Amino acid sequence: MLSMKNVTVTFQDGQERLTALDNINFEAAPGHLTFILGESGSGKSTLLSAAAGLLTPDSGEVLVSGTPVSDKIRLEKIGMIFQQANLIGALSVRDQLLVTDHILGVTPRRERADELLCAVGLDGLGDRRMQQPSGGQRQRVGIARALMGDPALILADEPTAALDSERSHEIVSLLRTLVTERGMAGAFVTHDRSLISTEDRVVRVRDGRVTADEPARV
Ligand SMILES: Nc1ncnc2c1ncn2[C@@H]1O[C@H](COP(=O)(O)OP(=O)(O)O)[C@@H](O)[C@H]1O
Ligand SMILES: [Mg+2]
Repeated sequence: MLSMKNVTVTFQDGQERLTALDNINFEAAPGHLTFILGESGSGKSTLLSAAAGLLTPDSGEVLVSGTPVSDKIRLEKIGMIFQQANLIGALSVRDQLLVTDHILGVTPRRERADELLCAVGLDGLGDRRMQQPSGGQRQRVGIARALMGDPALILADEPTAALDSERSHEIVSLLRTLVTERGMAGAFVTHDRSLISTEDRVVRVRDGRVTADEPARV
């Protein structure tokens, strides 16, 4: 569960300070996808960066499962997915996931990696080096990798922006299923309203402010 209270983030912009997030409140509850919609430059990525503890707000509080976010919390409780899956070319599909275990300093969990590959529809592909994976396959690997640490919270920043409509819908319904089944909280930034389903929550960001928090109407 993610809870952001009265969070303000500013950046130096030439002589002035730009307010990227203006005293926002935001929550992502377990078992649901919470969509974050808003125009380019409205503060969506800044919101996710603050949620992940990748930047420190000027003021306000960010709690993940009730604990202030930190590097340790990010490592142990948060899975992140970006527009590009950022896979490492030379590694097999399974090893892309086992990189997480290396970072966590635990013994490589091959079985867990293979289970997660199965969960994202890539069963049996663990040993492959994907020579020319499609965008959809890359994002599936990225999602499986994000789940390796058994996160309580998934943060996704426009993960379908480079995919066609059919692939985008596949990836979103995969994430929705995983979030629901595993009781994770999921915050999902997109421009694409068509990805939203009735069981999702929707938050709109405009000029650094959260302007609405409502159940999805589609
Ligand atoms: N590291 C940064 N330094 C300066 N300004 C930034 C930085 N990151 C974002 N901004 C500014 O903050 C505002 C919000 O950006 P961002 O959160 O990336 O928006 P979005 O993801 O909705 O497109 C924009 O005006 C952007 O230019
Ligand atoms: Mg962005």
